[in-house]
Amino acid sequence: MAMLPNLVRYYRRSARDEIGGFLSRGWKKAESQHVTVVDDKSLADVITISERQWDQSHSRALLNYSRIFKNTFYALKRDGEVVGYCLCCIRPRISLRGLHKISAICSFVVREDWRGRGAGRMIMEHVIKEMRLNNVSLMYLYVMMENHKAINLYESCGFKKVDTIGDICQLGSDCYKMELKLSN
Ligand SMILES: CC(C)(COP(=O)(O)OP(=O)(O)OC[C@H]1O[C@@H](n2cnc3c(N)ncnc32)[C@H](O)[C@@H]1OP(=O)(O)O)[C@@H](O)C(=O)NCCC(=O)NCCS
Repeated sequence: MAMLPNLVRYYRRSARDEIGGFLSRGWKKAESQHVTVVDDKSLADVITISERQWDQSHSRALLNYSRIFKNTFYALKRDGEVVGYCLCCIRPRISLRGLHKISAICSFVVREDWRGRGAGRMIMEHVIKEMRLNNVSLMYLYVMMENHKAINLYESCGFKKVDTIGDICQLGSDCYKMELKLSN
């Protein structure tokens, strides 16, 4: 019986992801010289960058999401190499005005040797532009409270801290929930 809540949570998440994947069909692409979607060729580079930053369970989640969110998994390429990526998971939200799309930044990393050179900003600005183009009403993310670099970047792109939550980014640590409203 103790497994039941976990099972319910698992199926709710899977259903949410599948609906999100469905909502991102027919996705409109914004033009960019350097930011593209992650394809089969670049996925291996993305996984390498991810594994230098997070643990292997994160890579497994990336592989799973790469199947569902093909249109909103972004790679920044320089000189033919992937130097950063951002995975956005599209989620359904129901309000009085009906069903609309919101977007969770599920994973965002720039390769160490490219940090501090504008790569993160280039990816994030492109992602926000494309979310607007596709009528996503809100973007959100969770970030560790001590991750000042990322928080500075998000705030400079218009994200606001809306909550403090424990055990989401890492067990035993607090993080901020941040949001960027794109439409009313
Ligand atoms: C967060 C991260 C993606 C930023 O990428 P980046 O390429 O280094 O960022 P940029 O060079 O484009 O800098 C963008 C902004 O970030 C902030 N920033 C970057 N380096 C910083 C530093 N050393 N100190 C403080 N703020 C910094 C600044 O606001 C900067 O704005 P500016 O361009 O006006 O200076 C990158 O540091 C990273 O991959 N970190 C590890 C993974 C991670 O924390 N991901 C986010 C999880 S929520």
